[in-house]
Amino acid sequence: MRPRVFITRNVPGEDALARLRASCDVTIGTYSSILTAEEILHGAREADALLCLLTDRIDAALLTQCARLRVIASCSVGVDHIDLAAATQRGIPVGHTPGVLTETTADLAFALLLAAARRIGEADRFVRTRQWTLARRWEPDLLLGKDLFGATLGIVGLGAIGQAVARRAQGFGMRVLAWNRTPKCVEGVECVSFNTLLAESDFVSLHVALGAETKQLIDEAALARMQPGAVLVNTARGAVVDQGALVSALRSGKLAAAGLDVFEQEPLETDSPLLQLENVVLAPHIGSASDATRRRMTAASVENLLAGLTGKPLPHCANPTVYAVKNP
Ligand code: DGY
Repeated sequence: MRPRVFITRNVPGEDALARLRASCDVTIGTYSSILTAEEILHGAREADALLCLLTDRIDAALLTQCARLRVIASCSVGVDHIDLAAATQRGIPVGHTPGVLTETTADLAFALLLAAARRIGEADRFVRTRQWTLARRWEPDLLLGKDLFGATLGIVGLGAIGQAVARRAQGFGMRVLAWNRTPKCVEGVECVSFNTLLAESDFVSLHVALGAETKQLIDEAALARMQPGAVLVNTARGAVVDQGALVSALRSGKLAAAGLDVFEQEPLETDSPLLQLENVVLAPHIGSASDATRRRMTAASVENLLAGLTGKPLPHCANPTVYAVKNP
């Protein structure tokens, strides 16, 4: 019997999906918004394989009700939406998509860094709201920002994306510091302690996965250690930052600006104070959002699913200990 695959929502990448359809019966959810737990269960209950997105919460309660499930592939690099321990306990390998989105996400981090440094959001609003009048055609002190050249960038998390951001920063003539839990040697990057990075950086960009150790890593105390007038960029996960403390730091001028693609709650609440702050550049979690990269993410997810369904190790497995559980 052909394995059944449930894909929670349509994803770009017809070629990869066709490869999956060649050997599997594929059902794609027709939902146009984030699935509820019931909707995920409805599709996954009888499935052998599940392709999910980072907005799909895959918890122990759901897994218990999906007795046939043999493999999960998340079309994301982050897997904080999946209970990995529960999946491992049930012998289910969980695939993810590192690598294919590295450069695209680094581009977005750098775009936010530049936009926050040079106040591009404010400049855009200035023009659109017709404040750019003949009387104010050019002003010596209009929208003054910060230079990247000669400034110090601190990279928190020197994985593939952090390293790709470092390469961009080097091209812009920045000094690059990095903190990584296990120190790494990367050319042109000075590995320093977390506190040194905070104290010496004009710009701080976050590239750590969300886990127990990184939750609210950037809290009130960390923000207090940063340079007055520093800029924070977050394209990792919202919960890595204490958002309330960040708002206070942006309001008080302790931080000059922030560029944010991820938030504690997504979408951002309509009454979020961040929406009122001029010195924040906001994006709706689009780090990996280029057409080519989204197709590559689908292809990588399909490779993970096909490997799992044929009993092979997943090319990119987020819970490799599952194989030890399966073959004690
Ligand atoms: C991921 O894949 O985890 C990213 O956040 C999506 O762009």
